[in-house]
Amino acid sequence: MNVLITGGAGFIGSHLCERLFTEKKRVIAIDNFVTGNRDNIKNFIDDPNFRFIEHDIVNPIDMDEKVDLILHFASPASPIDYANLPIETMLVNSIGTLNMLEIARKNDCRILVASTSEVYGDPDVSPQKEEYHGNVNPIGPRSCYDESKRFSEALTMSYSRVHGIKYTIIRIFNTYGPRMRLNDGRVIPNFISECLNNRPITIYGDGKQTRSFCYVEDLIEGVDRAARSEDTIGQVINLGNPFEITVLELSRYIKTLCNSSSDIVFMPLPKDDPLQRRPDISKAKALLGWEPKVSLQEGLRRTIEFFAKNHAEYVNVDLSALRLKKLSIIMPVFNEKNTILEAITKVKYTEVPDLEKEIVVIDDGSNDETKEILSNLNDQSIKIIFHEKNRGKGAAIRTGISVATGDYIIIQDADMEYDPHDYRKMLKPIIDGKAQVVYGSRFTGERRDMLFWHMVGNKLLSLVTNVLYNTTISDMETGYKLFTRESLEGIRLKSNRFEIEPELTAKFCRKGLRIYEVPVSYAGREKAEGKKISWKDGFLALWTLFKYRLIS
Ligand SMILES: NC(=O)c1ccc[n+]([C@@H]2O[C@H](COP(=O)([O-])OP(=O)(O)OC[C@H]3O[C@@H](n4cnc5c(N)ncnc54)[C@H](O)[C@@H]3O)[C@@H](O)[C@H]2O)c1
Repeated sequence: MNVLITGGAGFIGSHLCERLFTEKKRVIAIDNFVTGNRDNIKNFIDDPNFRFIEHDIVNPIDMDEKVDLILHFASPASPIDYANLPIETMLVNSIGTLNMLEIARKNDCRILVASTSEVYGDPDVSPQKEEYHGNVNPIGPRSCYDESKRFSEALTMSYSRVHGIKYTIIRIFNTYGPRMRLNDGRVIPNFISECLNNRPITIYGDGKQTRSFCYVEDLIEGVDRAARSEDTIGQVINLGNPFEITVLELSRYIKTLCNSSSDIVFMPLPKDDPLQRRPDISKAKALLGWEPKVSLQEGLRRTIEFFAKNHAEYVNVDLSALRLKKLSIIMPVFNEKNTILEAITKVKYTEVPDLEKEIVVIDDGSNDETKEILSNLNDQSIKIIFHEKNRGKGAAIRTGISVATGDYIIIQDADMEYDPHDYRKMLKPIIDGKAQVVYGSRFTGERRDMLFWHMVGNKLLSLVTNVLYNTTISDMETGYKLFTRESLEGIRLKSNRFEIEPELTAKFCRKGLRIYEVPVSYAGREKAEGKKISWKDGFLALWTLFKYRLIS
């Protein structure tokens, strides 16, 4: 199969070429290097399956060999590039697209046209679905790009209506990764270069504007699936990563990864800079079975590594600093067949900026279908440990702690009474250096009505803790306990059942660690819904608090 790629020497185009080789396709790349780079194709320029044509696609080209598929990716894409090349940008997305549609018509082949989330302009809905028509300023500084991409889409549709061309339009959202240019003006290379140089990080506006970033490997997977599937013919599809982050958070994230001492400076927001950008990718999920897999932290790590290795000025940068601190999430599970998959998925896709994540699931001898569900999970990113017999929550947590490798540890029950979105909130006091142990309090946050006697029991246990250990905590029994690995040093946990909660509290307090509380949301279950703790555990908890204060 002969695939023609326009913009093949660009950032995304060159990754696409590479992917097509692995599928043993013959690749004909066209590029005029206006924003591309010969280095991007140096690894395969001599490959017998690769043909490179240096040509400006605004000028028609007669192909002397059959073309079976066109991937039309040529266009300046970064705000700096299209500001410098506004007319070239408009021409490549109009006449360039016309020339490619003509090749598709003559060869009776399919064309996949790379469009952009910029067709949505400064959106007044979020996330953006393909049906959204956009909010674009036709005469603003970005209009050469936004409007020419809209024209490119409209022209493709007209060719399909008039000539029956088989097309797919891909609306690409911010994509990043190796082979971007360090000076291309996009936010990720900007921040990386500033951080690696320990120069001030420049944020335009107050940094509260959000973006979502897709790692290039994920995007290429999506484009490849779209190009191979018959179901995508005649479709417009968003491809991007729906995980949203503010520009300010992103800058802190990159600063941490680069171990940089850069300060942050704020500059006025450029005209027409969108305040929010986030794709709705439900169509891509349904049609392609695709969604991004590479977390922002991993993608950034690989990108920073690429820049540091490929730019002479960074040869002295210590790449070991790229190790992020890790959060281990310990999930004790017993008979949770109805919630376990949802719980794992939720935890897996909860991003914790600045940190790597490790999920450790301990099946505590379940005798419903939980064990089978976990055995069939086939997800290398999750550590799963099985207790042969039910030994209790405390025993499961102790097993989890013994295999967890994180710098920070949080307990996450699989019944989803607690919400992983609260991780960030709980981590903040630890990352800010204010605490080593953080409890999520159910009594100061948003919560579903708790049964009265449950509340009384919990309050009583907190009161006894405060009296015995001279603390002022509101929720000793909370399931959301987050602590640093260091805080466990010298502590040997012994509990097998729910008395692990007072044992942890007692031992942290006896070690002199102050407990920091943050409000968390809570949607408690009751006995009929599968809650396993009972009043007997309340007495055991009381005994545990007294035992570690007065005896042990
Ligand atoms: N990277 C992103 O975040 C992003 C987001 C949305 C859309 N896109 C789209 O994806 C495509 C590729 O973007 P990229 O980030 O790889 O940009 P890029 O600038 O790295 O690549 C574009 C390539 O097209 C080539 N090109 C431009 N005009 C040409 C012409 N007239 N004739 C021949 N070649 C020409 C350039 O030399 C360059 O190699 C673009 O169409 C862009 O609009 C990218």
